[in-house]
Amino acid sequence: MLSVAGLNQGYAGSQILWNMTLDVPEGSCTCVMGRNGVGKTTLLRSIMGAAKIWNGKITFAGKELAGTPPEGRARSGIGYVPQGREIFPQLTVGENLELGVVANGKRTKVPARVFELFPVLKSMLHRRGGDLSGGQQQQLAIGRALALEPKLLILDEPTEGIQPNIVSEIGDILVRLNRDEGLTLLLVEQKLAFARRVASRFCIMDRGRSVAAGVMSELTDDLVSRHLTV
Ligand SMILES: Nc1ncnc2c1ncn2[C@@H]1O[C@H](COP(=O)(O)OP(=O)(O)OP(=O)(O)O)[C@@H](O)[C@H]1O
Ligand SMILES: [Mg+2]
Repeated sequence: MLSVAGLNQGYAGSQILWNMTLDVPEGSCTCVMGRNGVGKTTLLRSIMGAAKIWNGKITFAGKELAGTPPEGRARSGIGYVPQGREIFPQLTVGENLELGVVANGKRTKVPARVFELFPVLKSMLHRRGGDLSGGQQQQLAIGRALALEPKLLILDEPTEGIQPNIVSEIGDILVRLNRDEGLTLLLVEQKLAFARRVASRFCIMDRGRSVAAGVMSELTDDLVSRHLTV
């Protein structure tokens, strides 16, 4: 469904991604893992069109994305939950969700299933985003991306800085979206237990390169100790 091949990218002359490769098969939950600063977010921002790539190929649903602006990538069905959530603190929960609807380009209303997945968002519809707890803001960010009705949902460290009970709720939701509803997920995650529970495939990045990839059962302790533990 999504593939990245030979991607080189960097900022002001310093190269971050080196001949990066990633394959996200339709229906999978593919987890990109790697230590801090290896380029995980840069990879996602390149996929979303938020960071300019030097060269390489990014293909989504059979179509090369080069030349498609970020809003076009969203409209073509890629939902994005950025690292740090990036909800609008001054806007209400409802207004934040509306932004996801607008990004869809066709819908006019927040899909009911967003509230079914996250009942807390319904009960807090008129509260300002900034008044929500970190975990609730993460749920809002996921809800906003789902309001787009994506074919592929990309999440950048959705459990970072979130209390354990909400982490487990978010895990439940991702499993339900992926395994029960067939939504393809691309997840960046550093918590190994969470990744093992939710994802079906992995890709390990080290210093801007893909160093290992496969199905989750192939993620050996040796790979973990070589590339993931600090
Ligand atoms: N806008 C930017 N301008 C310049 N350098 C950047 C920018 N964004 C990221 N970098 C650098 O690129 C490298 C990769 O950063 P990136 O955020 O992609 O890593 P990451 O794997 O997502 O890290 P983390 O696990 O901490 O989120 C880092 O050295 C970072 O300092
Ligand atoms: Mg990051």
